[in-house]
Order: sequence, then C-alpha cells, then structure tokens
Amino acid sequence: MSNNNQKTVRELINELSFKFDSANLYYGHGTDNAFDEAVYLVFSLLNLPFDVEDEKLNEVVDAEKQNKIEHFANRRISERLPVAYLVNKAWFCGMPFYVDERVLIPRSPIAELIEENFSPWISQDDQITRILDIGTGSACIAIAASIAFPYADVDAIDISRPALDVARINVEQNQLLKRVNLIQSDIFENLQGKKYDLIIANPPYVDLAQMEQLPKEYRHEPASGLAAGENGLDIVSIIIHESHHYLNDKGVLIVEVGNAQGALEEAFPDMPFTWLEFERGGEGVFLLYKEDMHN
Ligand SMILES: C[S@@+](CC[C@H](N)C(=O)[O-])C[C@H]1O[C@@H](n2cnc3c(N)ncnc32)[C@H](O)[C@@H]1O
Repeated sequence: MSNNNQKTVRELINELSFKFDSANLYYGHGTDNAFDEAVYLVFSLLNLPFDVEDEKLNEVVDAEKQNKIEHFANRRISERLPVAYLVNKAWFCGMPFYVDERVLIPRSPIAELIEENFSPWISQDDQITRILDIGTGSACIAIAASIAFPYADVDAIDISRPALDVARINVEQNQLLKRVNLIQSDIFENLQGKKYDLIIANPPYVDLAQMEQLPKEYRHEPASGLAAGENGLDIVSIIIHESHHYLNDKGVLIVEVGNAQGALEEAFPDMPFTWLEFERGGEGVFLLYKEDMHN
C-alpha cells in the first residue's frame, strides 16, 4: 500500500496510462497504446525487465524516481517527445539500443526478417559473409544482422555524421567494432568496388505531402531520416538503379519503402518486386535478387 505521495509501480503505470490516454498522443515509436507507453516509460526508468514478476509492481517507487517519471511523463505530453528519446532507449530484435534525436527510433518490420534469418528467402547454405546496411541510423539493423550472421562483416553506412556517432555507441556496446564498419557515405558514393551478398536498407521514404502532415512526435526525429523528395522515392530509386553493381551474383536486396510502395510500383512497372509479409504487422518491404535487376 502507498500513501498519497508515494505510489507503487502499478499505481504509477495506471496514472500515466490515464494521463496519456486523455492527452491524445500519437503512438508509433515502439508502442501503439497509452498503457504500453506508460509501461515503457516506467520500466525503463526503473530498469525493470518486461517480464518482471507481478509482486514487484506492488513495490513503492522512491520519491526521486517518482519525480523523474512524472517529469518525463509531462514532457511526453507537453513536447510530444517519444518515450524512446526521453529514456534514450529503444528495442529492436529484442535488443536494447541507445537512441537520441540524432537518429530515427528503430521500428522497422525488417526486425522480423532478421530474427528468422531471412528464411525462406536466404537459406542456411547461402554463404552470407558481406552485408551492407544503407542508412544505418542507430545501427540497429546492422548490429542485429551481424548477430544473425556471425560469420559476416557488415558495412553500416549513413550520410549523417551525428547518426554515425550514435551508431558507434551501439556498436561499441555490443562489442562489434571488428565486424560492423561504420562508413559515412551518400548511398553508394564511398563504397566503390565493394560487393555484398545482402544489401538491407530502411532509407527515408516519406513524400512531401506526408512530411507536412506528420504528427508532432515524428518531428523530433531527424528530417533527413524521413524525407525523400516529392514522391518519397529520391533515395530508393538510386538504390534500385545501382545495387546490382554492389551485389555478388546470388546477392539479395531488401528495402523498406512503407507506404511509398504504390509510387514505387508505378515508377518501376517492370521490376519483379517480391513484397514481404509480416506476422507482427508492417508492410512495404520488398525483396529483389540481383538476377532480377536490369544490368
Ligand atoms: C529511416 S532512417 C533508418 C535508420 C535505421 N536503419 C532504422 O531502421 O531505424 C534512414 C537513415 O538514412 C540516412 N540517410 C538519409 N539520406 C541518406 C543518403 N543519401 N545516404 C545514406 N544515408 C542516408 C538517414 O541519416 C537515416 O539515418
């Protein structure tokens, strides 16, 4: 039990959940409802695992931590700041990543593919030893892929130096400096002569009209991680046109384009895209084999 000022973990979660619900927040950075958002904030600040024992939720939170949680909850509402930026932590493929406003908050459905080792698209017999992650941001895809393919080297590229600084924090934290190479590059610019078995990209793909209507939460993310010109295809088009130079003969290209899917199919009517399906939701991720691309 708690007195008026002291609250238990459970009470704090319920209180925040109610507050978030009443504040008309936009979700989309790791949760999709007020209750989960409250759990994310409270558990992160109390360093509790998501499978915490029920009893722990009845413990009283000390005053200092409670103040911090309430302060962050108020900022979540008044500034529309995503929880991930408040607690500097986001989850991808079940792993924690350091994030701040220099990088997009990880949420790509590509996580599901990585967790399944890209089955059935890539088989155990395929020798995946060279991987490229275009637009690496926090390096979430590069790091998760390097763990899924322990014999592979990964080049993780981004045009943004500040994003690469964040990526470095995560690569170091995962002790992967030997296998995940961070490279500043405008798409393929600084990769001349390199070849990969697998190229993965979650590039910017938000079109001009959508950029103008983004909920406030997304405006805290770097615009360079989202905006991709008039029809959202500025970066994706270059990736499609040039990937075959950088893929080995049996190489595979996997790219998330979200709701730019329609515009992409219109722009490349003859390209045999395979659109992947996800159990946990998400769409607009295509796969192409090198042999399917025009040389
Ligand atoms: C949608 S974010 C993806 C971040 C991360 N891969 C993820 O899935 O969370 C796109 C990233 O592409 C980077 N980017 C934008 N334009 C680029 C370009 N021309 N060349 C390389 N990277 C670029 C941005 O800086 C940003 O980090």
